[in-house]
Amino acid sequence: MNAIPPDLRAAIDRHLADSLPGSLVGKTARMSEIYRQGGGSGGALDLGAYLVARLPATYAAICSCLEELAQRHPKFSPRTLLDAGSGPGTAAWAALSVYSGISAVTFLDNNQKFLKLAGSLAAQGEHLALQGARAMTADLGELPDDVAADLVVAAYALAELPASKAGEIATALWKACEDTLVVIEPGTPQGFARIREVRSALLAEGAHLIAPCTHENSCPIQPPDWCHFSVRLARRREHMHAKQATVPFEDEKFSYLIASRPPGEVHGSRILGPPADGKADIRFKLCGGDGLSRQSVARRDKAAYKRVRKLRWGDLFE
Ligand SMILES: C[S@@+](CC[C@H](N)C(=O)[O-])C[C@H]1O[C@@H](n2cnc3c(N)ncnc32)[C@H](O)[C@@H]1O
Repeated sequence: MNAIPPDLRAAIDRHLADSLPGSLVGKTARMSEIYRQGGGSGGALDLGAYLVARLPATYAAICSCLEELAQRHPKFSPRTLLDAGSGPGTAAWAALSVYSGISAVTFLDNNQKFLKLAGSLAAQGEHLALQGARAMTADLGELPDDVAADLVVAAYALAELPASKAGEIATALWKACEDTLVVIEPGTPQGFARIREVRSALLAEGAHLIAPCTHENSCPIQPPDWCHFSVRLARRREHMHAKQATVPFEDEKFSYLIASRPPGEVHGSRILGPPADGKADIRFKLCGGDGLSRQSVARRDKAAYKRVRKLRWGDLFE
């Protein structure tokens, strides 16, 4: 489980020290409703509720995508990072946990309150790149010219814009990207629809897909199905309280796309959905160059079964 790092946790605790825990319950319920509807917040997110009830989940999803990137593009060692639609800077903290060689971070957001919070949390981080992070007020639809970075991450940011803009914004982010672009959205049909737009726009720019797609043919997934993944995270006490939750963990669903300028080490098929582990066999739903397929591996085929039994939703099946 990708728990938020101790220095970020401490910075969040200091920020929340003045808010009454009870006051976050209603704000968190309103925020959850916004996400359930699959839409954007229109800038109305409560910062405290976001830190307690959303940031741990977006952090875990971003880490999960970046860990996949590290495997599929092993020579990539970014020095510069653009956290586009940074909110409190979640993607920067996640990126530094995977790529400690990043030495320059830019937060970009059109919400001054979020940018100020990102700067305040980052100033309390142990990593020098966080302490020296640059904050830039700008709109994703009108990116300034001086925002180039090796790694560009736009996490849960396109949901705030009209769906028809997703491709155009992806193209602008791609221009700002010197090596790899990571776009993550909520794992809802609407979130995936934006990722599909991003995919088409980036392929038209000549980008190489790194994940989750293992091919650059047209996407075979048709509604009502949608391509999404899941990451489990532990809930802290105040997180459980804010969400009025009864279990100490949650499963964050996300859709994503990673594209690079150089080709990645991409092969096989992606496992869509949890494998069905039955008495006689284990069954996988796969997406690969030949489209969608199903594959089962019999338990009695010991060597093959041993190879696949630990594979999970989102892994590569080779
Ligand atoms: C749901 S938050 C995600 C924050 C963070 N990336 C994360 O994953 O936790 C969306 C962020 O995108 C920003 N955003 C939305 N539309 C934007 C736009 N057109 N230009 C710049 N930032 C935007 C919002 O202000 C907000 O901070």
